Amino acid sequence: MAERFAIRVAADAADLARAVGEELQALAAAADEMTLFVALSGGSTPKGLYQLLARPPLVEAVRWDRFEFFFSDERAVPPDHPESNYGMVHGALLSKVKGVAHRMRAESGAAEDYERLVMERVSERRGGVPVLDLVLLGMGDDGHTASLFPGTSALRERKRLVVMNEVPRLKTRRMTFTYPLINAARRVWVLAPGVAKRDIVARCLVAREQNGCQEQFPVVGARPTDGELIWWLDRASAGDGR
Ligand code: 6PG
Repeated sequence: MAERFAIRVAADAADLARAVGEELQALAAAADEMTLFVALSGGSTPKGLYQLLARPPLVEAVRWDRFEFFFSDERAVPPDHPESNYGMVHGALLSKVKGVAHRMRAESGAAEDYERLVMERVSERRGGVPVLDLVLLGMGDDGHTASLFPGTSALRERKRLVVMNEVPRLKTRRMTFTYPLINAARRVWVLAPGVAKRDIVARCLVAREQNGCQEQFPVVGARPTDGELIWWLDRASAGDGR
């Protein structure tokens, strides 16, 4: 039972999106007839990846019919709301490729329905928890990931796989995967390019080394029980002056 942690440093955000896109293409190519269950995140960094995936050459090269998409979190708004993760991903990618995508109806508050959906669609289990092939995450400048924000109750959830999480800082609540579901995945990729992420990336790496507090830096708690963890950075966020 091991986590394999790697940091990949691209030249910049565009180079990072290209590298991640090519890894996704390779995953699909190696999947043969298997379905790849992938959870997507919102945010401007993931959006840049989705836009690149929706353009040649990747839009033609990737076997989209092999993917079944979920969402790792969602705002409590309808899909046509400007803050909807589904709306963003649909506009950037899903409207342009084949592939099943399961919208997270966060506006309904029915987290148990989405949990049931993941249980029904993903048959492989680890400790009774569905094993996704990949959970794609961003990193907020406060160290949040998905909608696991510092100091919020969802961080302490060890049974439920999907919950509604009150986020006082944003005066809202969101639907989010919890650590048990994220960390059962075969792969967890965290995208964090850009100079604005340099400080939080450095602080989270220190917290990780010190087996640090995921209460304060939730992205540190996203570590697969037995799988691959990659932090995808660029020179700016890695603090690499080259
Ligand atoms: C959301 C995302 C969130 C996002 C990070 C990074 O619903 O906002 O799921 O976790 O991935 O905040 O976003 P940026 O790449 O825009 O910094």
